[in-house]
Amino acid sequence: MLEELKALEKRARAELEGLGALEALEGWRVAFLGRKGALTEILRSIGQAPPEQRPALGQEANRVKLALEQAYTDRAEALQRAEAQRQLAQEGVDVTLPGRPVAPGFLHISTQTLREIYAIFGAMGFQVFEAPDIETDVNNFQLLNIPPFHPARDMWSTFHTTREGVLLRTHTSPGQIRAMRQYCPEPIRVILPGKCYRYEQVTARHESMFYQVEGLAIGRDVTMGDLKGVLTHFARQIFGPERKVRFRASYFPFTEPSAEMDIDCVICGGKGCRVCKNSGWLEILGSGMVHPQVLRNGGYDPAVHTGFAFGMGPERIAMLKYAIDDIRYFFANDLRFLQQFA
Ligand code: FA5
Repeated sequence: MLEELKALEKRARAELEGLGALEALEGWRVAFLGRKGALTEILRSIGQAPPEQRPALGQEANRVKLALEQAYTDRAEALQRAEAQRQLAQEGVDVTLPGRPVAPGFLHISTQTLREIYAIFGAMGFQVFEAPDIETDVNNFQLLNIPPFHPARDMWSTFHTTREGVLLRTHTSPGQIRAMRQYCPEPIRVILPGKCYRYEQVTARHESMFYQVEGLAIGRDVTMGDLKGVLTHFARQIFGPERKVRFRASYFPFTEPSAEMDIDCVICGGKGCRVCKNSGWLEILGSGMVHPQVLRNGGYDPAVHTGFAFGMGPERIAMLKYAIDDIRYFFANDLRFLQQFA
């Protein structure tokens, strides 16, 4: 039996050495050290050996058991180390490779368009004046000749807040009141850019949040001719020197007279197409001479001062300039769209 034990140890060690992977170890352990394994069988049969041999056999069997358990642990560690080495070699970092390039940021297309607008009006002496997005009903409507329940309020579907009389501005025009009250009685030449909000059905041409750029000029002898000159120059700067413009009579409660400005269609050049609905013209902004009552509300005397104002949508301008067919792209945050303007 002693011989048997020695042979078993030899065989077990040889097989253990031959194992190539961690997963195979368990099979070896069951075969040699498990409850039904070869060594356990020998241990069980010791009871049948002659009594004088039993102590020596028991001692030897225990030695072999401990030795094989140790061999098992050593082999498991060695295989684990080898596996880790293999993984390291396979997944190792090559520190000599160039790093991943960091993509430089770029300005959003609305911001780029706004800056282009600032530059054009800046060259004509207009400063940027900032006004808040959250406005009072008084500034957004009442001081612009739109009293509560006036039907003209339907032109601006409004987001109200839970605080009575406080709303998200529906246009940048309330900034006119703020600018006038700050500068009165000085002359004014400002543009007021910023976000506006309307509770509107979102479509290819309508967003519920969009930018506007308001313009306001006040002084002595400011005329409709000045308005037309400034806006025609603007249209030709931003859309190209060959642009034709036209002014159409319109209505805004805070300007009198009021006019919409159109440019000849940038797509068909005025011949008529789907984009301009076959009219040959595209509307780009609303404008007019500041209403005498609005001048008074800003602190100016309409017998002394006159002024003009206008309001445009930079997203709509960018849509025309770059042939973008859906306004929803602007704030959907899809990089495939935005990166075209990087
Ligand atoms: C106004 O908001 C007037 N306050 C403009 C004005 C200012 C007139 C000063 C006279 C004097 P209107 O609602 O048409 O007007 O909007 C002006 C521009 O904002 C539009 O021409 C369009 O370019 C843009 N705009 C209006 N609604 C939306 C919308 N839902 N989504 C995107 N752009 C819009």
